Amino acid sequence: MVNIKELLKETPQDQLVEVNGWVKTFRSNRFIALNDGSTLNNIQCVVDFENFDEALLKQVTTGAALKVKGKLVASQGRGQAVEIQVNELHIHGTADAETYPIQPKKHSMEFLREQAHLRVRTNTFAAVMRVRSALSFAVHQYFTQNGFYYMHAPIITGSDAEGAGEMFRVTTLDLKNTPLTEEGEVNFKEDFFGKETNLTVSGQLEAEAYAMGLGKVYTFGPTFRAENSNTSRHLAEFWMIEPEMAFYDLKDNMDLAEDFIKEVLKYIVAHCAEDLNFLEKRLLDEEKTKPQAERSELSLLDKLRFVIDNKFVRITYTEAIEILKNSKPNKKKKFQYLIEEWGADLQSEHERFLVEKHFKCPVILYDYPAKIKAFYMRLNEDGKTVRAMDILFPGIGEIVGGSQREERLEVLLEKIEALGIDEKELWWYLDLRKYGTAVHSGFGLGFERLVQFATGMGNIRDVIPFPRTPQNAEF
Ligand code: 4AD
Ligand code: MG
Repeated sequence: MVNIKELLKETPQDQLVEVNGWVKTFRSNRFIALNDGSTLNNIQCVVDFENFDEALLKQVTTGAALKVKGKLVASQGRGQAVEIQVNELHIHGTADAETYPIQPKKHSMEFLREQAHLRVRTNTFAAVMRVRSALSFAVHQYFTQNGFYYMHAPIITGSDAEGAGEMFRVTTLDLKNTPLTEEGEVNFKEDFFGKETNLTVSGQLEAEAYAMGLGKVYTFGPTFRAENSNTSRHLAEFWMIEPEMAFYDLKDNMDLAEDFIKEVLKYIVAHCAEDLNFLEKRLLDEEKTKPQAERSELSLLDKLRFVIDNKFVRITYTEAIEILKNSKPNKKKKFQYLIEEWGADLQSEHERFLVEKHFKCPVILYDYPAKIKAFYMRLNEDGKTVRAMDILFPGIGEIVGGSQREERLEVLLEKIEALGIDEKELWWYLDLRKYGTAVHSGFGLGFERLVQFATGMGNIRDVIPFPRTPQNAEF
């Protein structure tokens, strides 16, 4: 069975062909635009309506699924090289024109989010999802070619890798009917696992264990955060790519992250031209509706090429604070809340200032204050900063968070104690420092934020098939 993408490449020689797909439009009772998802382009199927039953043709409406048989001929119409002269038409399934939600017109993103099960039949979502698929392939290809092993980290876990407490509990207990302990707490001893567990927020700690045996590994799987943030950059369920490398220090880690991002973007520029061109045009139309001052200077493909061709700026947190302190708020007071104190966490407006106004390119910030970062990061000799790095992207903000890990048992123990983390919970993680410990590093890249950057989509909910956000788990 041939798909439309392959068919459109064939030389028309009146050969008999058969395709399946969904009707995009049916014009003048004669021209069916058929699409099967293999490509953005439709194949035009021409029906001689006198030869077909009227009742059958009435069923050819937008959204109906068809099988078409006919001759592949050179097209007379503009915009396509070939078309099918239809001999046989079979309706797999009709789509009532009165109720089918996806009509051939512009729908709002909000409306389409409510139709998450049908929105992939629009050009925009089909293009985004094909790019998403290509990007995930590029991720696996990059790591495989660079000597990494793909590792599946557990989804259910007893540890909180980020220590941020933003976890979804996993339990088999019927919480309403399970008696509490004498201390008034939930008795997790009765649970399937005999202890409190949650959905993973990150596969990092397990990836560290594997890096200390396989050398270089990466995870690429779903992660979960019960943070109640209703933003265009946060999901409760998102896919994270987490490479972890033995014997890599922070500089090696930064080099890898930069090279990795550039290579996967190169891959889609080379392999997804049709979809990216379409998304670029869509974005240009959207930009035109904005006031001049707010319009983006670069088109989508220019942005991708810019990231691929330019070195990311690397500065320490301390240098970033200096820049922010010395920056004057602009006239519109957009960046008026600039940081005054060393040690404060950067807000997204600070990150945007650095990336979009000051440097105008991706920035790697490193050596953050220990106090605002997770327990596992390697303490610097100054005793107050850690070997952390965040990569900030224009229009996206933080796309990568990573670090060199604390490999010294005593220092890690001190840190764990200071933060009030139960040492026993991390016994296996501490074992890694007791037996053959070594310098090692890794990072996490939020896959949906990468897809957002690659496709120019403004909202993270529109780059994952069925977004999980607060109050939203219908599908
Ligand atoms: O900075 P984060 O929290 O780092 C970690 O989880 C580390 N354990 C990673 C590591 O070193 N192996 O998350 C990493 C990235 C962020 O930079 C962001 O791109 C993405 O994950 N991310 C989210 N993406 C969508 N929705 C959310 N709620 C996200 N939270 C983090
Ligand atoms: Mg982070």
